[in-house]
Amino acid sequence: MQVNFINVADNLGAKNYSGPKNSGLKKSLTTSSKNNSLSIFLISSDYFKKNNTSEFKSLKQSFDFEAKFLQTVIIPIENSVSLYFGIGEISKLNDVKFNKIGARILATANSMKYDSVNVYLQDHDSASDLVNIAFGALLQSYRFNKYFEKKLKDKNVKIKDINFFTKHNENCQKIFGDLDILAKNIFFVRDLVSEPSNVLNPESYAKICQNIKIKGLEIEVLGEKDMAKLGMNSLLGVGVGSAKESKLVVLKWFGGKKGEQPLAFVGKGVTFDTGGISIKPSNNMEDMKTDMAGSAVVVGLMQNLAQRKAKVNAVGVIGLVENMPSGTAQRPGDVVKSMSGQTIEVINTDAEGRLVLADALHYTNTKFKPKLIVDLATLTGAIIVALADVYAGLFCNDDELAKQLEKCGNATGERVWRLPLGDEYDDMINSDIADMKNVGSGRGAGSITAAQFLQRFVGSTKWAHLDIAGVAWKGKGDALAHKGATGFGVRLLNEFVKKFEK
Ligand code: BES
Ligand code: ZN
Ligand code: ZN
Repeated sequence: MQVNFINVADNLGAKNYSGPKNSGLKKSLTTSSKNNSLSIFLISSDYFKKNNTSEFKSLKQSFDFEAKFLQTVIIPIENSVSLYFGIGEISKLNDVKFNKIGARILATANSMKYDSVNVYLQDHDSASDLVNIAFGALLQSYRFNKYFEKKLKDKNVKIKDINFFTKHNENCQKIFGDLDILAKNIFFVRDLVSEPSNVLNPESYAKICQNIKIKGLEIEVLGEKDMAKLGMNSLLGVGVGSAKESKLVVLKWFGGKKGEQPLAFVGKGVTFDTGGISIKPSNNMEDMKTDMAGSAVVVGLMQNLAQRKAKVNAVGVIGLVENMPSGTAQRPGDVVKSMSGQTIEVINTDAEGRLVLADALHYTNTKFKPKLIVDLATLTGAIIVALADVYAGLFCNDDELAKQLEKCGNATGERVWRLPLGDEYDDMINSDIADMKNVGSGRGAGSITAAQFLQRFVGSTKWAHLDIAGVAWKGKGDALAHKGATGFGVRLLNEFVKKFEK
């Protein structure tokens, strides 16, 4: 789908349109209906209240329309329809709400089988708000359709163009540039997460990474031999049951000051999680193709930083493994020595994400001496019990870092909820025969004991862990994403990185 910003003066329909109060409306609609486009009129409730025209009066009387946020009325006019779209009180809107307006516009127009949409503003012609509407529409237009042969035509989004008529078309175009790059990287993440595991495995995934060619973005791939030399037996143990070779991919973007410590992003990349010998029940096991979502966000984010030439130093590290049961697989009770030197008793082979991250975190911390580390992982089912698909779980050893992430979450709509860490929880992962075990004793606080485990591998470096098991994939979809992969984390961390750019 193409997003266009068009100067109001260049458009016949819009020029003739001076609000629903005069007959120009009819004219613009008949003009646009010829090429099967839907005209949508955005009206704030402030404007609606101020302009007591007969048309507005009848909208209120007949349809209770008051231009409340996301309130719509569709009225047939001649051979087309008029869509009045409420955006509520201007003072109560923010970026995320503008995104949602755009998403709703796209979803509505698409369900009505039009092939383009013209959006006219009744009032509030602001470039920054308009690009946020456009961004929301673009995010909603994503579909993962590559495996449809027969149904492709029905499944594809029909809207080819969404046109915004504004006085600030040039400015909109300029601001939209970065959001367009961001959307493409969110789609890249959604593509990876949606990909089935017979296609996306640690080897093919590493190749995809190697094929990213963006000036200044360095990509390095470590295989099993390299990792064995480094002593990454915790990560390697997860992959020993798989026919595919485990990989560690490192992405480097040094767009900031020379010598300045980088920000580090680490991702869990389990391309399929059967649970291993502690095998999962078959119900919904197919969802475990998404167990690499954290890693995909890291790749998408790094690509985004390089494409928008962010003035920051950043490294991304992802651990890629496939967790399979087989004759060579790791057994419950096995003890492995991690790269950090700490030993781990593997009580449950399904708690594999933390085993992968243990070595990826230690490697990142010792090799790059980063300013801070943020890791992302579909780590625990327990976080879904606690927060559903609404918030990601946040665990953090630094209050300021936690606050920054919460703030960015609220600003982008990718919200995080902080949960506690503490000695009592740390005690729960002490093992009888090794330095630690990979699951907590007792049944409670599964997401916290998992985070506690990770914390043992980051030393005193500022660190935040985002448990995205609930938010990476939405079975029902949400305002900004059709059902399936969301790409959660790219917008949040892109916003976070901006705070470090000078
Ligand atoms: N990949 C799963 C967590 C998960 C569950 C992600 C549902 C997405 C949706 C993780 O590896 C796992 O299996 N965790 C176990 C840990 C347990 C064995 C301590 C869990 O949450 O049940
Ligand atoms: Zn698991
Ligand atoms: Zn897993």
